[in-house]
Amino acid sequence: MRRPLIAGNWKMNGDRQEAEALLKAIAGAEPGKADLVVCPPFTALAQAQDLLRDTVAQWGAQNVYPEPAGAYTGEISPQMLQSLGCRWCICGHSERRQLFGETDELINRKVKAVLDAGLTPILCVGESAEERQNGQTASIVQREVEAGLSGVSAEEAARLVIAYEPIWAIGAGQAATAAEAEEVCSWIRECMFRCFGTEVSGQVRILYGGSVNGRNVSDFLKEPDIDGALIGGASLRAEEFISMYNRAKA
Ligand code: PGA
Repeated sequence: MRRPLIAGNWKMNGDRQEAEALLKAIAGAEPGKADLVVCPPFTALAQAQDLLRDTVAQWGAQNVYPEPAGAYTGEISPQMLQSLGCRWCICGHSERRQLFGETDELINRKVKAVLDAGLTPILCVGESAEERQNGQTASIVQREVEAGLSGVSAEEAARLVIAYEPIWAIGAGQAATAAEAEEVCSWIRECMFRCFGTEVSGQVRILYGGSVNGRNVSDFLKEPDIDGALIGGASLRAEEFISMYNRAKA
């Protein structure tokens, strides 16, 4: 049985005061049969460590550089994240791919570096509107999963998380339908079966992301191959975010 996971991606939002208010509210979430993760910007990770310690919420980063230390001005290593108590790291978000030119190869290095440091990667994959229109969704998603996880062992693959985030649904206010999301998440599970076998494909958690909110989250959670959600905009509204976690517990 896969444990549902609700993860929040704040993106480049939350100054010190806003982060404090949001983290304090999230600290009040009650334990249950689901996992709760927040990914604030780097600048709020120390606050997350202070304010979420001994709560049900775990915290992670939105990005990382795949080297332990050195002359990489402006970058943050998995080991630095680990020292701030991070247990998670988003890798290959479509905004990183599109705005910062991240390639499958770089994302694969990030996934492996995150795993080596003992953190859990959330590997994001998903097609653009144009790619969907051209019938390329399955091939894009398959390529991003296979390339992103190249060289990863079956044992590691079983404990990581994949988020299917169609680019056309991110920040759009209009999510994919639950059926559209389920179809692609089931392809991702099949892809994991081909690459790593039955046990891994049965264990790996697959999330849907893209305009998930308090009104539609339950539709996604009902689908057999969707194990939770990666939430952007709605994760900045504490009450709504916690209510989605409560939905996942139920
Ligand atoms: P959204 O973002 O929920 O604001 O659509 C999701 C994401 O980019 O992870």
